[in-house]
Amino acid sequence: MGSKPASTKLTKFVDPLPILKTLKPKRMTKDGPYYEVIMEEFEQKLHRDLPPTKVWGYNRQVPGPLIEANKGEPIQVKWMNNLPTKHFLPVDTSFHAHEMPEVRTVTHLHGSETPQPSDGYPEAWFTKDFEEVGPFFEREVYEYPNHQRATMLWYHDHAMGLTRLNNYAGLAGAYIIRDKWEESLNLPKKEYEIPLIIQDRSFNPDGSLFYPQQPDDAADNLPNPSIVPAFTGDTLLVNGKVWPYLEVEPRKYRFRILNASNTRSYQLQLGAGLSFYQIGTDGGLMRRPVKLETIPMQPAERIDVIIDFSNMKGKELILMNNLGENASPEDETNEVMKFKVTRPLSGEDRSVIPKILSDFRSLKHNKITSNRIVKLVGSADEFGRPLLLLNNKKWHDPIEITPELGSTEIWSFMNTTNFTHPMHIHLIQFQILERQPFDLERYNEDGQIIFTGPPKPPEPHERGWKDTVAAPAGQMTRVIGKYAPYAGHYVYHCHILEHEDYDMMRPFRVVDRHGGTGSSFTNRNHH
Ligand code: C2O
Ligand code: CU
Ligand code: CU
Repeated sequence: MGSKPASTKLTKFVDPLPILKTLKPKRMTKDGPYYEVIMEEFEQKLHRDLPPTKVWGYNRQVPGPLIEANKGEPIQVKWMNNLPTKHFLPVDTSFHAHEMPEVRTVTHLHGSETPQPSDGYPEAWFTKDFEEVGPFFEREVYEYPNHQRATMLWYHDHAMGLTRLNNYAGLAGAYIIRDKWEESLNLPKKEYEIPLIIQDRSFNPDGSLFYPQQPDDAADNLPNPSIVPAFTGDTLLVNGKVWPYLEVEPRKYRFRILNASNTRSYQLQLGAGLSFYQIGTDGGLMRRPVKLETIPMQPAERIDVIIDFSNMKGKELILMNNLGENASPEDETNEVMKFKVTRPLSGEDRSVIPKILSDFRSLKHNKITSNRIVKLVGSADEFGRPLLLLNNKKWHDPIEITPELGSTEIWSFMNTTNFTHPMHIHLIQFQILERQPFDLERYNEDGQIIFTGPPKPPEPHERGWKDTVAAPAGQMTRVIGKYAPYAGHYVYHCHILEHEDYDMMRPFRVVDRHGGTGSSFTNRNHH
């Protein structure tokens, strides 16, 4: 229960990588396949040498089952909460928690273009059997239209004030949209296409998950004296196993990698002089593949890569996480998983890395309706506890961002803090325009923004559709997006879940000036 986990020396690469199982629909309906997903508490073996760990998962799996859909074919999912009424992780009962039940859930499909009633608004939470619901609760069965480009999205819990704990407990899973175009490209498929969900966790010696407790300093009479500003675990898991290995054939594989960690970012590298061929970003295929030695991944970002093991027969290869020069030698998170090229080739590898992957328009040429600055700022609450805010506003402040339905806007994430925040916008996939450094010291002195260099184009690994963008300290990160196809209430936030829960999240509203709100949503009893 202290602030440091008991050291957990776990042997690396002793468990095989779990392959995600695709969820089967309960039945077919006139509105497409209908799925049911139940959130439950159970125990799962996360490493050979760890006793089973208490987790929360979807359909008794951590990560949750893989949901696969085809472009243009809607699906329905009933997300059901069958969790205990007490959390097993340390809940902060003071913040955004007044009069809310201790255990509440709502599922968001990250990166999707979903009508607002099914987007998983943080205050659309519900408890076990829908006995209690949040002020924004809309419906029990969510509908996903799947009309966007083929890509890997992910679903995860988004309950107000609990997102960090519910995700850490295990409530996250992958969701793939497929389309005919991608199918025609002859990329590695079936057993040669493997989603990898990377997360970090710490364990107590009894195998239970460790998450820091907010110091319980009753003496100074604060509701909660301190908040957890960031959390990184000391072990890395892929698809729910600590440091697993995967046996592969000497051929090309396609890996769909998701960073589903709360706070931790990665710098992925391959040993043995191998490179990644990146073919996709958050929102699907890039225009052309890029060959990369290192790919940085902020929380919630996805990359779609091909690794070619054909010259590696009989060898082993580590997927590494470059911790940089200052890393302590005891830090074992410099390795993610191991590939063993030990399986015989089961037939000629006819898959290819196409020269041209896809085509899409740059949004730069659209008419830009608004240029907005979103300031990322460090602040404090009335007790002096640190908070991170967007535009100096808290969650319950009135909405100031109201893009018109169908309009194209540029949002400039101006980061006045000292570290990178992965900024995520619901509803849309956007494009990164540029990043421009400004004088942070000067800004903190007198509020002047003085640029110290020219704008830089996005990095090679982010030249595609994105829903989450690294916004580094002292830079203006500009993204362009078209606010469509739905009107309604959505949110944007930092995807460091400890930041998101401590107010680095704000609502915005897409307004249809011609056709009402475009959603059945009514703000029933919001302040
Ligand atoms: Cu992945 Cu609003 O979240
Ligand atoms: Cu999202
Ligand atoms: Cu942040």
